[in-house]
Amino acid sequence: MSLSPFPSGVRPPGFECYPAGLGPSRRSFLRAVAGAAAAAAGGAAFAGCERESAAGQGESAAAPVASDGPGPLPVWPDGGFGPDAVRIGFNENPLGPSPRALAAIAADGLGAGHAYNYPDSIRDRVAAHHGVARDHVLVGCGSTEFLQFLPWGFLKPGTTSLVLPETTYGWCGGVAEAIGAEVIRTPMGPEGTLDVAAMRSAIRPDTRIVYVANPNNPTGAPISRDEVASLAERVPDGGILIVDEAYAEFLDDGQDAVSLALAGGPVIVARTFSKAYGLAGLRLGYVLGSGPVFEKATGIWWGDFGLNTAAAVACGPALDDGEHVAAYVRTVDEGLDELRAGFDELGWPAWPHRAPFLMADAGREALPVAWELFRRGIYVQDGGGWGLPTFLRVSVGLSADHQALFAALREIEAA
Ligand SMILES: Cc1ncc(COP(=O)(O)O)c(C=O)c1O
Repeated sequence: MSLSPFPSGVRPPGFECYPAGLGPSRRSFLRAVAGAAAAAAGGAAFAGCERESAAGQGESAAAPVASDGPGPLPVWPDGGFGPDAVRIGFNENPLGPSPRALAAIAADGLGAGHAYNYPDSIRDRVAAHHGVARDHVLVGCGSTEFLQFLPWGFLKPGTTSLVLPETTYGWCGGVAEAIGAEVIRTPMGPEGTLDVAAMRSAIRPDTRIVYVANPNNPTGAPISRDEVASLAERVPDGGILIVDEAYAEFLDDGQDAVSLALAGGPVIVARTFSKAYGLAGLRLGYVLGSGPVFEKATGIWWGDFGLNTAAAVACGPALDDGEHVAAYVRTVDEGLDELRAGFDELGWPAWPHRAPFLMADAGREALPVAWELFRRGIYVQDGGGWGLPTFLRVSVGLSADHQALFAALREIEAA
């Protein structure tokens, strides 16, 4: 059996990819850290993207997803998207990493690259950020490390189940399927809201994981802390509720689940440095929890072995750079307004939630539109993999990214 969480050839729902391509804001970062070779490789690779795109249209596209168009966009084109690509498909931080994190990497992050050992410094630093003891924190290679390994620890083939919304970030569901546990997907409410009552009713005595992203990706809809608590109280003994707070900065004050995670119950909160801290390419994430289930998770965690020295030195300065996070949140809020105005003008209804991405309804199959954008070097995701085939999910970028998007969409609409 393949250990891949996704059936081969099927585009994983909600899967985000982090290829080596360089968006405008990250170019300077990689130049600083890795040198101009990376940019050159990215440029060459974009031609590869175009080749894939052209191949997708040909007769050899054996299993087209669109009725009469090309197959799914390449999730991970060889070598990335090129230095001039407009990357508004991955919910990355359009401002790039914190300058403080970059300075720390340049000073200390690479010279110790030959050494394995990462003392508990990252765990301690994250614990201090939340004002908790080290035992309540596990750090890993992105929060995805936890979405991958927690199912292996808590699910068994045939005798357990996982509950998650049908339209959400896909890793946990994919891994559960690979394990052979039953995956129970609950329907979405209007405008991409999460139907918490349906999730509560779907939880069974054999349920060992309930997964929710808050705010949800790709819909952007949040649930309240009380709703999270109402899910937690239904989780059977020995099970966990994973609350994936990759976009925690966009929850209203007091609505995150950290205090629930520290209360000794089944809640485990997942956080990432990939979004607000702009360190997606360095792969750093963590979970917070307490009590017996967190002890079990700690027992099966492989330690901080999945981390790298650049992430280790970037972690503290990134956490300390509140101004950078605040600038990111401002950029997203302003960018959302700009995107909404653009989609309004285009006549595409967009869902109303606050997150660093937006779902906009093209009113027709969106995949061919996504391909047209892709050919113009603009990467967004179509909603087909999430069962929302008329939608595009557009990440907030910089204003120039949005202008490029709407200029292209106007052109596509006029054709
Ligand atoms: C809801 C959600 N969780 C987790 C992740 C991945 O985070 P990481 O980069 O820390 O693995 C993403 C990435 O887009 C996401 O949208």
